[in-house]
Amino acid sequence: MTEDAMRAPRVVVGVGAGIAAYKTCEVVRGLAECGHDVRVVPTRSALEFVGAATFEALSGNPVRTEVFANVPEVEHVRIGQQADLVVVAPATADLLAKAAHGLADDLLTNTLLTARCPVALFPAMHTEMWEHPATRANVATLRARGTIVPDPDTGRLTGTDSGPGRMTDPSEIVDLARLLIDEPHGLPRDLEGVHVVVSAGGTREPLDPVRFLGNRSSGRQGYALARVAAARGARVTLVSAHTTSLPVPAGVEVVHVSTADELRHAVHEAAKSASVVVMAAAVADFKPAALVEHKIKKTDTEPEPVVLDRNADVLAELVENRRGSQVIVGFAAETGDGGSDVLQHGRAKLRRKGSDLLVVNAVGDGKAFEVEENSGWLLAADGAETPIPFGSKSQLAAALWDAVSELLARDRAGGETRG
Ligand code: CTP
Repeated sequence: MTEDAMRAPRVVVGVGAGIAAYKTCEVVRGLAECGHDVRVVPTRSALEFVGAATFEALSGNPVRTEVFANVPEVEHVRIGQQADLVVVAPATADLLAKAAHGLADDLLTNTLLTARCPVALFPAMHTEMWEHPATRANVATLRARGTIVPDPDTGRLTGTDSGPGRMTDPSEIVDLARLLIDEPHGLPRDLEGVHVVVSAGGTREPLDPVRFLGNRSSGRQGYALARVAAARGARVTLVSAHTTSLPVPAGVEVVHVSTADELRHAVHEAAKSASVVVMAAAVADFKPAALVEHKIKKTDTEPEPVVLDRNADVLAELVENRRGSQVIVGFAAETGDGGSDVLQHGRAKLRRKGSDLLVVNAVGDGKAFEVEENSGWLLAADGAETPIPFGSKSQLAAALWDAVSELLARDRAGGETRG
């Protein structure tokens, strides 16, 4: 391996002058913890919000804002030239304007002009500024040039205001940054114009007003699938059952559900106009036959047994009612048992469910549930089996969208029809 291939990826974190700069500390820490060589380049005014010492301590690298600092190293050119990724968070309206027009009056804007690696700008500003035609035009220019500019989140802004303009959650930024480092030529836009439906999280089946039958799904894998699909250009509907509190991925439409029946209804509704449906949710197979109206009290007598009814198998229904050449993907979380290993269970499930693709994860012993990393196999209906190496849930998502994209391309080329 060459020395260059062995070195830690160099990530530049540009910081604009917005109150969200305090959240950028989490981004810097997250990227440094991944083992990346992080260089923070704030604008002069950004240092009004967070001091250079904080960024230096978190990144382990010096922090400068001016072109005329450290001139012998020609830093205003080197930092951008040598970067593997540039992330700007928060990207203010002013910074977006400068980037769109190629202005270069400080170290960060010089870096943006000299970088040839992927560049991702995460806007944060008041709603009026985000919606102003000047900002809209600047964002369109940047996107057309290949710069990644996710829509900001909607929510609480500075002061009492609320609306679109909140910076993407730091954990989302770190996740997306990790993905971009693995894709040195930038994320493919192969899902542009494709409507995809992703279900995520775990359903809850109520027993009485305070108790339910649930499961340990965190929703992280489904949210990662939604985030990566949106970043690759898809229109994403995320049908979200219960999750650990996860930020809504930028540019994704979310439909919140609780029970398996609600999820079933929402998925079928969204699937009417979708080219791809990915069932990553952990859907309860059974529900209590009757909902007890009042809280069940303990008594001195033997407790009543809980009678269960079957829930519909949403994945099987999707396959049965497949719309045209819709691509349908299932997930299988398997523990393996005495008779059959995880992969054998997966193969049998793919045959039984009839989906085009099935992602098989090993669970149990702290694997997959409630953790950040995942691994598994991607099984295809044509018999192809691809191992998915241990990595972030975004990396697994990227591998799955690669496979889906291939199936869509085959369809466009007039290849086989599924089903
Ligand atoms: N699934 C579904 N509807 C259900 C149960 C599961 O759509 N009622 C989907 C899940 O979202 C997942 C796939 O089916 O994509 C496999 O889920 P899993 O629970 O592993 O499958 P089951 O058919 O319930 O098999 P098992 O007997 O292993 O529980």
